[in-house]
Amino acid sequence: MIKTDFLVIGSGIAGLSYALKVAQRHPDKKVLVITKSRADETNTKYAQGGIAGVTDFEHDSYDKHIQDTLIAGDGLCNPHTVEIVVREGPERIQEIIEWGTRFDKDPDGDYKLGKEGGHSEFRILHHKDVTGKEIERALLDTVGKQKNIEVVKHWFVLDLITQHHLGYLVTKSTPDIECYGVYALDHQTNKIVTIISKITLLATGGNGQAYRTTTNPKIATGDGVAMVYRAKGRIENMEFIQFHPTALYEPGVSPSFLITEAVRGDGGILRNDKGEAFMEKYDPRKDLAPRDIVARAIDSEMKKAGTEHVFLDCRHMDQVKFVEHFPNIYQKCKSIGIDVAANMIPVAPAAHYSCGGIKVDEWGHTSIRNLYACGECSSTGLHGANRLASNSLLEALVFSHRCYLDSIKAVGELKFKDGVPEWNAEGTMEPQEMILITQSLKELQLLMSDYVGIVRTNTRLQRASKRLDLLHEEIESLYETTAVSPQLCEVRNLITVGYLIVKEASFRKESRGLHYNTDYTGKSEILQNIVL
Ligand code: FAD
Ligand code: SIN
Repeated sequence: MIKTDFLVIGSGIAGLSYALKVAQRHPDKKVLVITKSRADETNTKYAQGGIAGVTDFEHDSYDKHIQDTLIAGDGLCNPHTVEIVVREGPERIQEIIEWGTRFDKDPDGDYKLGKEGGHSEFRILHHKDVTGKEIERALLDTVGKQKNIEVVKHWFVLDLITQHHLGYLVTKSTPDIECYGVYALDHQTNKIVTIISKITLLATGGNGQAYRTTTNPKIATGDGVAMVYRAKGRIENMEFIQFHPTALYEPGVSPSFLITEAVRGDGGILRNDKGEAFMEKYDPRKDLAPRDIVARAIDSEMKKAGTEHVFLDCRHMDQVKFVEHFPNIYQKCKSIGIDVAANMIPVAPAAHYSCGGIKVDEWGHTSIRNLYACGECSSTGLHGANRLASNSLLEALVFSHRCYLDSIKAVGELKFKDGVPEWNAEGTMEPQEMILITQSLKELQLLMSDYVGIVRTNTRLQRASKRLDLLHEEIESLYETTAVSPQLCEVRNLITVGYLIVKEASFRKESRGLHYNTDYTGKSEILQNIVL
């Protein structure tokens, strides 16, 4: 059994920035960061376009960024959260610069600002087209120098420990559910460790792996959301899955390589199989309309033409500037025989970001006591029905800071919980057939892509729901009899995530933002977040 004051699950931007703050503030207290893979294998590392924030007050303003976020969110953003994130964001960005993040500058020393869909101004700070890699590097370097932070790799957190594990009945209506720590599987020893904590922060990222085609790496399996749901905590807005319009079309390659929206910000044009620039038919903002609109337009063009992709045309762009801003994309395209100066890039939408998640308040409290959440696994109210591009890294920084401020006040009063039992693995055996796990994952990804994708209908959602029930039943019976493994737990968590997406999508009797159901042409007059 391990005891730690602060337990952080996840080593992306949300988890690491929180860990650094509490560790610097409390050099006498231990901060334990757990990650199920390598320390840098996170969604954060793959971020390309950059981080949105108002830094150029000559052309931009907080009000403009607020308005852009609210418009993209299609009526469902929490305006108070939007104010918080936009106004507090620049100070948080300055902190990661002080921790060593290098954003691109022009020869005069001013930041080079990019533009993406839904932004009315150039406001995106970036490091070429590998912004996330640079942020992750700077954070891990700084964490490495902080003596009271321990980063434990290849430990898979299985479940939150609550009153349920002490033998009490815990239901959705139990008041004051508390988190006492977690059970985690150490991959190396195959032992399950009990970790008791005063404060636990979930920063477990997204769930793109619920879909067949996604930009998200393999770690994005919605574990935090599933754990909170199992512990009877609140989850909201899961139906708002954002599909990025332009993932590189490369059949058989997973995850999909992203072609950042910043390429369209710099002048890239979407064209259909006939070579027509089609976005003007769909939105006056053309290629730089918000993502939900562009992804649906592409989906519609692909369906009309019976093709599996459209094209992104960069041939007219200044090629020297292209290579300078997008060296990673240029190299990737070249490696598969695409010369961006001569050939158009085949692109298709891919599951990219979860706008909903673990419901938190303005200080990052979940509905479970002593449990905070921030980053992509959380639902703060910032994104509403559709996230504005490059607002995610910003939200993670602003909310990890808020979780830090609140939890350092709380920790002094808290005690470690006594009497927590060890994990009970009675009656389980080593898995006999991995196919039972891998096939469930394939079935889940297929049904989510076919029935719960960019365009939905009531019939598709009903079908998805029935198939998910069966998958749930099968995986639960396997879970009861099989020794836990990351593969088994990830599929189980993804099935829970699928269930939550379908359930909340079925409750939403309208088309709004990223949730587009052809059985409802318009938006309901009642604005509501769906919470389970
Ligand atoms: P992550 O960075 O995903 O970290 C999650 C961590 O949790 C990982 O360390 C993982 O191992 C750990 N974890 C998960 N489950 C468990 C478990 N059971 N046990 C132990 N550890 C666990 N956003 C922007 O704002 N701008 C961009 O330009 C941008 N580009 C993007 C490009 C791509 C290709 C992708 C995929 C996303 C992009 N996003 C972008 C979104 C953004 O990168 C993510 O939303 C953000 O990085 C999430 O950070 P996070 O800290 O919440 O989670
Ligand atoms: C991109 O670079 O296009 C992704 C930005 C984001 O997801 O916010």
